[in-house]
Amino acid sequence: MAAQIIDGKQVAADMRAELKDEVARLKEKGIVPGLGVVLVGEDPASKSYVTAKERTCEEIGIHSDDNRLPAEASQKDLMALVEKMNKDPKINGILVQLPLPKHLNEAEVLLAIDPAKDVDGFHPMNVGKMVVDEKAFLSCTPHGVIQLLIRSGVKIEGAEVVIVGRSNIVGKPLANMLIQKNPTGNATVTVCHTRTKDLAAHTKRADILIAAAGRPNTITADMVKEGVVVIDVGVNRVEDATKKRGYRLVGDVDFEAVKEKASFITPVPGGVGPMTITMLLYNTVESAKRAAGLAPGE
Ligand code: GUN
Repeated sequence: MAAQIIDGKQVAADMRAELKDEVARLKEKGIVPGLGVVLVGEDPASKSYVTAKERTCEEIGIHSDDNRLPAEASQKDLMALVEKMNKDPKINGILVQLPLPKHLNEAEVLLAIDPAKDVDGFHPMNVGKMVVDEKAFLSCTPHGVIQLLIRSGVKIEGAEVVIVGRSNIVGKPLANMLIQKNPTGNATVTVCHTRTKDLAAHTKRADILIAAAGRPNTITADMVKEGVVVIDVGVNRVEDATKKRGYRLVGDVDFEAVKEKASFITPVPGGVGPMTITMLLYNTVESAKRAAGLAPGE
């Protein structure tokens, strides 16, 4: 039986409607959440992500402070901008779009962001807190994946989860979140990567398979079992002369074939992508509430 398609656009739209209401309530208390956005250089994919983030801020009522630096910007310029935003009380969240141009030191920049404004959840302080299950900003793509599972009614507790990809942005944090001793964790997690000996042997065992390898067709139908839940985090551009822009977006999963075996599957685009931005804005609103001394439910 063909899989149920998990509609990330719809789940994200539901969450954004909840956020919009919350932002309106905060405005009545004189609180306007603010997000500082930094894009260095002209990478087309990064540019389109950042534009989408700014547009969604506007839609929800979050103030966005947009900063564009040229590709040849120095480490000093970037650090000074981060420092300025750290001190600015109108900014509750700071987003430095990654990857940065090669000459810049990404780790130093992430370390410079005030952990209380690290809405990407990339600062080692927040990563460490997440690992030991203390309250922290959760990084947006893994948190979005978990929200998609929960809101689709997929049981995570006790599931065999196989993650393909060990990046700092997706694979590593997601594995940590899913093994936490709480109802949205309690999974048995395997993390596969480029040195895994027999990838298919692992993926075939998965109740929930999360593809975050960054390579089209990493997961084919012969690599999954009947009834698997598939979350495709990949966003890959492949040449397509029939498209005006000359390419189309595909995930890491052979969607057409795998959907015939899966019970649930996310499409690309329209699956995980819309959730990442939504979780970023969720964190920004949480940060504004914390800065104003409000508890989560207030
Ligand atoms: N590049 C790709 N994904 C992300 C993300 O979630 N945050 C930032 N800052 N950069 C990214």
